[in-house]
This record gives sequence, C-alpha cells and structure tokens, in this order.
Amino acid sequence: MANETTEQMAQMSLGELYTSEKHGSDETGDGTADRPLKTAMQAMRKAGKEPFPTIYVDAKEEGQKYEVIAKSQLKKLTKLWKDECKKIEARLKKEKEDAEKRAKAIEEAKKVVITEDKSLPAPTCIKIRDGKEHRGKRVKIRGWVHRLRRQGKNMMFIVLRDGSGYLQSVLTDQLCQTYEAIILNTESTVTLYGMLQEVPEGKEAPGGHELQVDYWELVGESPAGGAEAEINQLSNPDVQLDKRHLMIRGENCSKVLRLRSILMKAFVDHYTDRGYEWISPPTLVQTQCEGGSTLFDFNFFGEKAYLTQSSQLYLETCIPSFGDVFCIEQSYRAEQSRTRRHLASYTHVEAECPFISFDDLLDRIEDLVCDVVDRVLKHPVGGELMKDLHPEFVAPTRPFLRMPYKDAIQYLKDNGITKEDGTLYEFGEDIPEMPERKMTDKIGRPILLNRFPAGIKAFYMSRCVGEIVGGSMRMHDYQELMDAYKANELDAKPYYWYTDQRRYGTSPHGGYGLGLERFLCWIANRYHIREATLYPRFVGRCTP
Ligand code: 4AD
Repeated sequence: MANETTEQMAQMSLGELYTSEKHGSDETGDGTADRPLKTAMQAMRKAGKEPFPTIYVDAKEEGQKYEVIAKSQLKKLTKLWKDECKKIEARLKKEKEDAEKRAKAIEEAKKVVITEDKSLPAPTCIKIRDGKEHRGKRVKIRGWVHRLRRQGKNMMFIVLRDGSGYLQSVLTDQLCQTYEAIILNTESTVTLYGMLQEVPEGKEAPGGHELQVDYWELVGESPAGGAEAEINQLSNPDVQLDKRHLMIRGENCSKVLRLRSILMKAFVDHYTDRGYEWISPPTLVQTQCEGGSTLFDFNFFGEKAYLTQSSQLYLETCIPSFGDVFCIEQSYRAEQSRTRRHLASYTHVEAECPFISFDDLLDRIEDLVCDVVDRVLKHPVGGELMKDLHPEFVAPTRPFLRMPYKDAIQYLKDNGITKEDGTLYEFGEDIPEMPERKMTDKIGRPILLNRFPAGIKAFYMSRCVGEIVGGSMRMHDYQELMDAYKANELDAKPYYWYTDQRRYGTSPHGGYGLGLERFLCWIANRYHIREATLYPRFVGRCTP
C-alpha cells in the first residue's frame, strides 16, 4: 500500500512541475505547487529528459497563481538545456579519461621501485641548519615539503623545511617517477638522501647549497594542493585563524613566532644576568589585581575562582625569600572588545624588586627595554629576523622621556589630542591607550608616563604606565593598604596572604608588568597583536 502511494505521487509529480520567479527556489523547492522551483531551466534539469512534464510559471493574469509556460519560451529554454547537457556530457567524458590516464600512470608508477645504493657512503643524519659543515658529503635529512615544482617527467625540485631552515633539493629520473613521487604534495613529510653541494656562482639557494637526492622515502602524505589549497596570505582573517595550525607553517608567521622565542630568551637572560630569581606563580587564583571588570571566573571544585590578571601580588610575596624576582606567565583579561592591542590571554613578563625608589624603578624599566632589544639584535638569528621583519627599526636610546601625568594632560591639550567626542582630557581623568599612543607617535621615543594621581589606577600603587609596560611602587604601609581595600570595595579576607607581607617585615618596593605580544608587535612591526601569538584568544575565538 505504501509503495503504491509513493508510485502514484511520483507519477503525479512527473506530470507537472511548478516554477515561480517570485517565491520559488532552485535550491530548496521540489517542483510542487506549494514548493515551486525558481526557474523553468531548473525544472528541465529536474525532469532530466524529454518529453518534459507540463511546466508551470507565474500567471500574468490577476487572481491566478500559475499558467503553463509559453511555447516560445519553452522552445528557447529547451535549446539552452540541450547545450548544457552536451557540455556536461563532454566534461564527464574528459573527467573519465583523465581518471583513467591517472590510474594508468599510477599503475605504471607503482612498478617503479627505487632502492638505496648501498655502495654509496653511509649518510650522516643532519638538520638543515648544519648543512654548511656537511657540504660535499652524503647526508640524510628529514622534513616537510615546503615547496614543490615538477619539471617534465624527469625532474622535481623540493624546498625542504625541517624547522631549522630551508633546503633546496633536486630529484631526477626514477626518483620522480615512483608512486610516492606522483602523489607527493606540499606539506608531506619525507626523508631525503644525497650529496650536499654548493650551488655554482650566480645561482641562489637557501644556505648556498643544494641537495642532489640519490634516494628518498615518503614518511607522511598530504592532501592534494597541500596547505595552500586551504589557506594563504589573502584568505579571510577568520579563515586564517581557523587554520592557524597550518598558517604557522608559512614563512611569515613562523618568522614572527621564532622572533618571539628569541625575545623570551632575551628576557630570561636579562633577568638572570641581573641576579633576579625566576618564579612560577599560580594562574588559578581567588583574588583580583586589575579590577573586577576584566576577570574571568570559573568553578574551582565548587568554589569561585579566577584566571589571574597579573602575577604581581604573588611576586610580591617572593621578594622576602629571593630579593629581585621575575616571571613570564599567562595573564587573562575578559576584554569585551576586539582591538588590535588586546588579547583575552597574553604572556605577561613581570618583575618585583625590594628596597628600590621610584626613580630606580624607572631606571630598571629603561634598562630592561634597552638591554632586551640589544640582546635580540645581537642574537645571530634574532638580528637577521629583525632586518627582515622590521628593517627601519631603531633601537631606543637612554634616557627615556619621563613625563609626569600633569604634563601629559597639558601635552594632550596643547597638541589637540582629544577624546572621541572632541572634548579635552582634564586633570584627574585616566589617560587611555589611544591618546597615549598618539603622544608616543608624535614624540617619537619611549615615554615613561608617571606620577598618576591616586584613584586612577589599581589599588596598590603610585604608578608609571605605558602602552607596553605598566608598573608602580607598591603600598607598603599596613594601614594604607587596609584603607585601599576599603576604598576599592574589596573584601580583605581573601588577600590575607598579601596583607601579611605588610605585617611581616614590610619594605618599600616596586615592579612592573610588560605585555610580551605588544613588545613583539613593536619590535617586529606587526599591526595586529594576534600576529604575535601562537593561537590568539579574544571575544569569539577560543580555537584552535
Ligand atoms: O598595565 P597592566 O594592567 O598592569 C598590571 O597588570 C600590573 N599588575 C603589572 C605589574 O605591575 N606586575 O598590564 C601590564 C601590561 C600592559 O602594559 C600591556 O603591555 C599588557 O600588560 N596588557 C595586555 N596585553 C595584551 N592584551 C591585554 N588585554 C592586555 N592588558 C594588559
């Protein structure tokens, strides 16, 4: 019974097909009067063969919904439909032939078997960066196919990437005719064996040499077209972020991230040389440091907890044990806006120093910035990367301009730097990033904005700030701190361990926090902070 009904319905629907330019859809319509297709051409495609069922279109006469398609229109469209059918037929034929050709080539290729010639000297397994010392010798190198170019049947050029560098490699004859050679795509992994030869004068290759491959193995395949088929520098930014795990294999992204690694080492070396101890504070906390509005909270085994905004308070607890201390940890800010300078999770370089004055603090920040830049530029790879990424970069010179808050307000007024609504910044108001940046751009050298009036910044301090570094002298008086909790409407209880620092041998002390990504954007001339991060996190983005 059920079958009969279906058959009847099929016959009915083949008897007539409805279309409507007004409310039909070629994608979702099914050709019934209730769900018409949009075009008569689509009705013909749906019918698939002549004679066509009766095709209905929108009625011209008022009060009627459909009318049978005009004969002349039907004739015109039938011709178009026939042309289309011919084209489809030809395409299918060509596709079939190509597939057969490819299958045949693959069958042929499967018969080509290459073996390593054991009479050749045994290869030394090396990284690409060590190539120079192995010129004229037989080597074995493993890596990813960064670029691939086929020239005829007997020649293939691979630029191999192994994370330590790039190597041009040449494969000839049978080496290019195996099954693996035919299916090889960029981003596949391979092991190449061969002689490393200096390229003749006038020819260019990374490192100045080329691998004459005598044997190779495919380690891991990659889909047709390699990574470029999915993503490139011109793709939409959101697609690039979705595919960032592939983007970072590219030259541009990896240069910035490699510089980031060198920069982090420069920070560690700076602090180690200056006698600071390296601390690892917790990032799951129950106290706030930079105001409640940017706190991420979460359920910590039934208790309310936060992702830390700064490790400062914990570093302060370490100075009685170790003296000068630093850390490089993630900090988290629930920033609601997607700006080119804000991340929800960023790498925070922080330091804390006992028994220093405010001027000492400024000196230390200046020393940090200048010394770290110097270390990066002197680093053999860092220097090269800087030349490549930011050729116009000029290292900052000491002393930095030290500008008290009140002078900064005056500077903004004198130079017409206003708020978005055109009004002036007045004494007592915070100086946000935008005017700060405009001021830095105009003055053209780093500025240490200092001596903010109490109440503008966080609860613990007298402060100096900048777009890249924020620091302050900390309140070291017990009563002053208790008053500050109150003024900031903070419950002192969860801060008991912090308050104890003022009870058990307090000391004047100060410190600062520096956003690693912002620093990297500055030296590497990157426009957007997400370029300085492996997998950026911001509103709407927590993958990959
Ligand atoms: O000025 P901030 O908020 O200062 C503090 O957190 C202090 N407790 C640090 C300290 O004294 N130990 O942040 C310090 C720096 C900023 O200058 C900026 O470079 C960076 O951290 N920063 C951010 N970077 C990326 N995305 C964000 N959402 C950031 N918020 C701050």
